Amino acid sequence: MKIFIDTANVEDIKKANDMGIISGVTTNPSLIAREGRDFKEVVKEITGIVDGPISAEVISLESEKMVEEALELVKIHKNIVIKIPMTVEGLKAVSQLHKKGIKTNVTLIFTPAQALLAARAGASYVSPFLGRLDDLGEEGVLLIEKIAAIFDKHNIKAEIIAASIRNPYHAVKAAEYGAHIATIPYNVILKMTEHILTDRGIERFLNDWNSVMNK
Ligand code: E4P
Repeated sequence: MKIFIDTANVEDIKKANDMGIISGVTTNPSLIAREGRDFKEVVKEITGIVDGPISAEVISLESEKMVEEALELVKIHKNIVIKIPMTVEGLKAVSQLHKKGIKTNVTLIFTPAQALLAARAGASYVSPFLGRLDDLGEEGVLLIEKIAAIFDKHNIKAEIIAASIRNPYHAVKAAEYGAHIATIPYNVILKMTEHILTDRGIERFLNDWNSVMNK
């Protein structure tokens, strides 16, 4: 499973990129708004940091307008992937963009049926949201298992991006259940680096070293 970072914060993207662990970036209108900067400017800056798929989301709700927005966004960089919400209009836009050779990431997927339709419309990526399902009392990661089984059985090429990842458990389960990618916020990436025994181990190694070498 590959790891993307789920943020529009360029400092966090640089820090994660320096760790050598990320191969793409996803943004959404909420994440862009949080930065308080020009949308296209932020996206362009991100393309200069990470050499991989960068998802930029359309705002329009009608397919024609979505396609218009997409055609502008792809001018920013060859790695731009157009993020489109899972609606009837969204599917129409995905289908048109697919015919033009433009990659799409269908977002706000909450059922296997939605994932199947998005893939059949020509999406390159589908993004099931785990955390938001957990918020409703469901076990979001099970959605990954179901979508992965369907895609595998029917040889569907669209890649599954596990999204709305809130903790390391989500990321690990997404990998176990067959997500191709998990898009993870920077704070969760940091949590994934940690273990108390790692910290204690370093402390013990250094104490042992210093007790002999610094005599
Ligand atoms: C994914 O592409 C979305 O940007 C993101 O994962 C949504 O996460 P949230 O549910 O924590 O807002």
